[in-house]
Amino acid sequence: MAPTVRPAERADLLDVLRIERASFADPWPYAAFESSLDEAAFLVAEGETETTVHGYLVASLVPNHGRAIGHVRDIAVRPESRGAGVGRLLLTTGLDRLRRGGAATVKLEVRESNDPARSLYRDVGFAPARRVPRYYDDGEDALVMTLDARA
Ligand SMILES: CC(C)(COP(=O)(O)OP(=O)(O)OC[C@H]1O[C@@H](n2cnc3c(N)ncnc32)[C@H](O)[C@@H]1OP(=O)(O)O)[C@@H](O)C(=O)NCCC(=O)NCCS
Repeated sequence: MAPTVRPAERADLLDVLRIERASFADPWPYAAFESSLDEAAFLVAEGETETTVHGYLVASLVPNHGRAIGHVRDIAVRPESRGAGVGRLLLTTGLDRLRRGGAATVKLEVRESNDPARSLYRDVGFAPARRVPRYYDDGEDALVMTLDARA
C-alpha cells in the first residue's frame, strides 16, 4: 500500500467523512471537517499509486501563554487499511507538524475501552495524564494522554 501523507483538501472531505462514519458511533459532521481545513495539521494518507484515502488526522495548535499546546482531535484509518502502519504514519507526521508549529506538549482524549488507539498513542510516546468522567455522549470516561513534544 505504501501510503504517503499530505495536507487534506476540500476534495478529500467526502472520503474522510466516509471513514469517520465507518469508525465512530458519534461521527463528526461534514461541517466540522470543512472548518478544520486550515488547522495546523489536517492530513490524509493516500496510496502511492492509487488515490484511495486510507486515513486522516486532525490536530490543532492552541495558544497557551506564548507556548502552544498541540491537540490531536481526530484520527481514523479505513477499516480495510488498518494494521498496516497508516495510523502510526499519520500520527508521527502530525506530531512533527505540531512540533514545528511550536507545540511544547501535545494532548488527546481517548475512550478507555479503545485498546488499539491507546496502544498506538503509547507507542509514539503519549502517557496517561488523567481521566475525564462521562466525557463521551454514551457515558464512557475519556483518558487524557499527553506527550512532551520537546523530548
Ligand atoms: C486507532 C487506529 C487509527 C490505528 O490505525 P492503524 O493504521 O490500524 O494502526 P497502525 O497499523 O499504524 O498500528 C500502530 C500501532 O497501533 C497499535 N494497534 C493498531 N491496531 C491495533 C489493534 N487492533 N490492537 C492493539 N493495538 C493496535 C499497535 O501498537 C500498533 O503497533 P504495531 O503494529 O507495532 O503492533 C485505527 O484502529 C482506527 O481507525 N480506529 C478507529 C478510529 C479510532 O478509534 N480512532 C482513535 C480515536 S481516539
